Amino acid sequence: MQTLRTVAELRTRVRGWKQDGRQVGVVPTMGALHEGHLSLVRAAKRGCDRVIVTIFVNPTQFNNAEDLAKYPRTEEADAAMLAAEGVDILFAPAPEEVYPAGFATGVAVQGVTAPLEGALRPGHFEGVATVVAKLFGMTQANRAYFGQKDWQQLQVVKRMVADLNIAIEVVGCDTIREADGLAMSSRNVRLDALSRAQAPGLYKVMGKVAAAIKGGADVAAVLAQGREDLRQAGFTEVDYLDLRSAAMLEPMTTLDQPARLLAAAWIGGVRLIDNIAV
Ligand code: PAF
Repeated sequence: MQTLRTVAELRTRVRGWKQDGRQVGVVPTMGALHEGHLSLVRAAKRGCDRVIVTIFVNPTQFNNAEDLAKYPRTEEADAAMLAAEGVDILFAPAPEEVYPAGFATGVAVQGVTAPLEGALRPGHFEGVATVVAKLFGMTQANRAYFGQKDWQQLQVVKRMVADLNIAIEVVGCDTIREADGLAMSSRNVRLDALSRAQAPGLYKVMGKVAAAIKGGADVAAVLAQGREDLRQAGFTEVDYLDLRSAAMLEPMTTLDQPARLLAAAWIGGVRLIDNIAV
């Protein structure tokens, strides 16, 4: 595996692959890799001839300087994992390579970015869409692999690709969970022992809520009870626990189209997000 830092080097390598008719896959990440990321890499290896993993802690998608500073950075360990998976290129550019002086362009996706994470983290999805569009342009990949754990992000990327006619196939891959149900996340390392023990409560409560909704119970009442159950399970704050249409993320009060139950809640000072199909 080669680690590249500049767009020029990346372009040269990819051009050679494309001339040889190779299909190129990209897995965009912010590093601090875990099994969830590796499952995306494995999907990319199965679906493509060459695989690029990008590691870039994108400053424009953080709306809190402390969160950006605290984001785990473990490039050496990440690189070792990726090499063991047979990744061809690790692209890990410096911030100046991605956002050179004078950078003045942003990608603003409307609609699907408005609720949930978009409402709570102003500017977040513009940062995500902008950097993902740039990474697609830089890598010229044929396929891009994203985890369904960031469900809203996946819908935003799909919308952007459709709207901007970007020639890439976006592949959404299943959420990978710990044995106790906690969705894998780079943020989990920040959980202390008690919070780590309580954190699987999120998935458990969501499972109960989804089952009740599928069983025909009143959606608003079940969601209210679910939020209360999360507080009882040790979550100090529930940003949302909501039933939304799967693609557009519009509020739903009855189960009359494909739906997703999405949640964001705080435990031990760490914000966890998760979602499941209903
Ligand atoms: O999901 C992430 O890790 C990031 O939001 C992404 C897609 C790599 C963009 O910075």
